[in-house]
Amino acid sequence: MAEEKKILYSGMQATGTLTLGNYLGALRNWITLNEEYECYFGVMDMHSITVRQNPTEFRQKARDLFTLYVAAGLDPEKNCIYFQSHVPCHAELAWILNCYTYMGELNRMTQFKDKSAKHADNINAGLYTYPVLMAADILLYQADVVPVGKDQLQHLEITRDIAQRFNGVYGDVFKIPEPYTGKIGARVMSLQDPMKKMSKSDENPNASVFLVDDANVIRKKFKRAVTDSETEVRYDVENKPGISNLMDIYSATTGKSMEDIEKEFAGRGYGDFKTAVGDAVADLLTPLQERFAELKKDKAYIDSMIKANDEKAYYTSTKTLRKVKKKIGYTEMIR
Ligand code: TYM
Repeated sequence: MAEEKKILYSGMQATGTLTLGNYLGALRNWITLNEEYECYFGVMDMHSITVRQNPTEFRQKARDLFTLYVAAGLDPEKNCIYFQSHVPCHAELAWILNCYTYMGELNRMTQFKDKSAKHADNINAGLYTYPVLMAADILLYQADVVPVGKDQLQHLEITRDIAQRFNGVYGDVFKIPEPYTGKIGARVMSLQDPMKKMSKSDENPNASVFLVDDANVIRKKFKRAVTDSETEVRYDVENKPGISNLMDIYSATTGKSMEDIEKEFAGRGYGDFKTAVGDAVADLLTPLQERFAELKKDKAYIDSMIKANDEKAYYTSTKTLRKVKKKIGYTEMIR
């Protein structure tokens, strides 16, 4: 019998529009993972409501995220791409796991601290227990590995702690997930403040390149990128964070090494370099945008993929949830 594939789980929040950071840091690297793993990728719309959303825009953004996954090359017939809110097991397991998570642990989460500073008028309990819902996502599918960027590693760590605690009480219910250690993408920083990561929710529109930005907008954003007062294109993250970020992006986009990039732009100044980075990114994203526009028109295809994958996710996660309910001693439903 063929050896069963290990399980891989990841996802993105369905808030705002995906950035170049989401693409180079995550999505682009997910495309071929299904060759080695059985892959689940969620459209994380339940996490999105920890911040207020406009219902009409939110509905559209979540569907667009699904479509962007497919446009970027994630094959929905080979990967289970589904909506978190369509699978009620996530909410059910999150509640259970809340009862196995300590407030002291949640108090340490840096994302909670950052987000509560940013949304001081809406520090809701969902924002606080966000990592528990993320733990439920991962543990429901018995994931072996989880590819996430550095910003999400703390959440993966708490997932492991919760799972180990639960298993300690009830036996081996959950698989303990590991961070994915294969090739991970570039960490992309804000174009306006290279000390901060590029983010969907940045208020400055020039700080982030969105996957759906028009080629000319992309070029302009790179032209306006913050650099430093020198003229030399040299990789030095500590002293030249802006230029180093642009070099990371250029390298991730063209495959060139830092050494090659330094040689290519020796004596040419920042203007030429910024133009080259803008062109390379625009060239990379144009085919994806064309595919996205085509797929958006094909409602029947996208609907059929959503339906099939929601069902698969539901089936898999129900198996884990049933086991959990039995272990903790819930009475059985009489049917
Ligand atoms: P989210 O939506 O913030 O980000 C999705 C993925 O994109 C990566 N990423 C970046 N990589 C490089 N440079 C950047 N500037 C950049 N910005 C974002 C993130 O590391 C991530 O891999 N909580 C998660 C979503 C989630 C999840 C899960 C992930 C919910 N449940 C279960 C994995 C497993 C989040 O907000 O990701």
